[in-house]
Amino acid sequence: LFGTVVAVDGPAAAGKTTTCLALAKTFGLRYLESGRTYRIIAFEALQREIPVDNAPEITGLCDELIEESRSTSLLTSERYASAALRRTPVNVAVSAVARIADVRQRVTSLIRLWATTHDHCVIEGRDIGTTVFPRAAVKFYLTATPEVRAMRRLTQERAESYENVLRDVTRRDDADMSRKTSPLLPAADALTIDTSDLTVEQVLDRMSSTCRSRG
Ligand code: C5P
Repeated sequence: LFGTVVAVDGPAAAGKTTTCLALAKTFGLRYLESGRTYRIIAFEALQREIPVDNAPEITGLCDELIEESRSTSLLTSERYASAALRRTPVNVAVSAVARIADVRQRVTSLIRLWATTHDHCVIEGRDIGTTVFPRAAVKFYLTATPEVRAMRRLTQERAESYENVLRDVTRRDDADMSRKTSPLLPAADALTIDTSDLTVEQVLDRMSSTCRSRG
């Protein structure tokens, strides 16, 4: 089960989605964006005006959403448009939701279950190589300077101002790295790639050759 997972972790806007989608195509892997689930929970909490730091209520909401989406897993639910999940209020709320241990435990279980039915997969997130799949066959930790990441996000999404994007990226990194439960950090056996001065093709070359060398 764990042997077929490629785990890709790293801070916000480090290029995880772009490279994971390309790897999925090259190697015929199923792709899962684990951050989407934390975003869905944050989005629903905002809709229902539940304070995102109220752990019992957010955990209850999480259970309700899992229950509701039983046949179509919450992980891949198409009820939510990606654009809505990427708006500023969700960016601000998501790290608070993601620091709740009971929520993490539930999302982790969902991801593990999903992987049992998609045995060749690439999963991106913050704790995939450290907590969700500590025995993943291949692990990458993608990073880049906050300035480079903010600049990339700005060009990609043509959103807001550079200052706002940079603030969001660094605030979220700080929150994700400093939380108690499965903080963002590279797994001991992950290949760390600093993509600051690399093109997407260069990053993909390194990732692909590592995947090939691990069979
Ligand atoms: O990957 P993305 O930027 O969409 O993730 C949004 C947020 O979800 C992250 O900033 C982090 O707080 C949380 N997250 C997490 N663990 C994961 C994936 C995402 O805590 N495996």
